[in-house]
Amino acid sequence: MRGSVMEAANAEERVVPMRLQRFLARAGVASRRGAENLMTAGRVRVNGEVVRELGSRVDPRVDVVSVDGHEVALGEEPVYLMLHKPAGYLCTMRDPRGRRTVAELVPLDEYPGLFCVGRLDKDTTGLLLFTTDGTTAQRLLHPSYEKEKRYVALLDGVLSRQAKRALEGGVELDDGPAAPARVRVLGAAEARGIPFAVHEAPKGAEAVELTIHEGRKHQVKRMFKAVGREVLALHREALGPLELSNLPEGKWRELTPDEVASLRAL
Ligand code: URA
Repeated sequence: MRGSVMEAANAEERVVPMRLQRFLARAGVASRRGAENLMTAGRVRVNGEVVRELGSRVDPRVDVVSVDGHEVALGEEPVYLMLHKPAGYLCTMRDPRGRRTVAELVPLDEYPGLFCVGRLDKDTTGLLLFTTDGTTAQRLLHPSYEKEKRYVALLDGVLSRQAKRALEGGVELDDGPAAPARVRVLGAAEARGIPFAVHEAPKGAEAVELTIHEGRKHQVKRMFKAVGREVLALHREALGPLELSNLPEGKWRELTPDEVASLRAL
């Protein structure tokens, strides 16, 4: 959790220039197509120079953009989007070792300052929230506010009734007891529709839905381990009021105004 707050600080340092037409659209000057027309008509200046080239980029923190002589600026409205994280990507905005990160999958050039809220393991798939809004992010991550997270785990065998009851009661982990979880054993048919990192479920594997409201490192895997089961694959379906639904793997979308309102209401 501490790492995620650091993530916000790192993301702040990383300012990626954005396309000028996107800047103009986000500043509310025109649609993206309209902004392109303004540019090609020579009505847009950056730092006093007319810019007609459509691939041009600006750094919103330092460049002065004007249209017909009137300065335009980005609103202060924070951005929120969700990504359907595929397996194989690290939840960090920058990896000094050059491994694949979720930063490659979100439009950092269009939304400078985006960072991911919390983490999923490299092999976990599912809903990952990004924002430029540090306050809401910290609230979501803070233990006293932590919101429900719904996961589906593919286990290496069936979950006994006793193990299910133990999870529902709160299992002991090496960093203290886990809070009681909601557990739902899924049928094989339901499990087949889940975009797990492993596509062929081994014989005897069972999918189980687990809803928790804590976010400790490898928490779900450790909870199942505490009752004698290994997690073969893990997928997050929901985070607080947000549902991944049918967002395709590797794709992102902006949150709807209702979703943003529900996050801010937390
Ligand atoms: N719990 C885990 O064990 N891994 C994740 O990626 C998320 C929750």
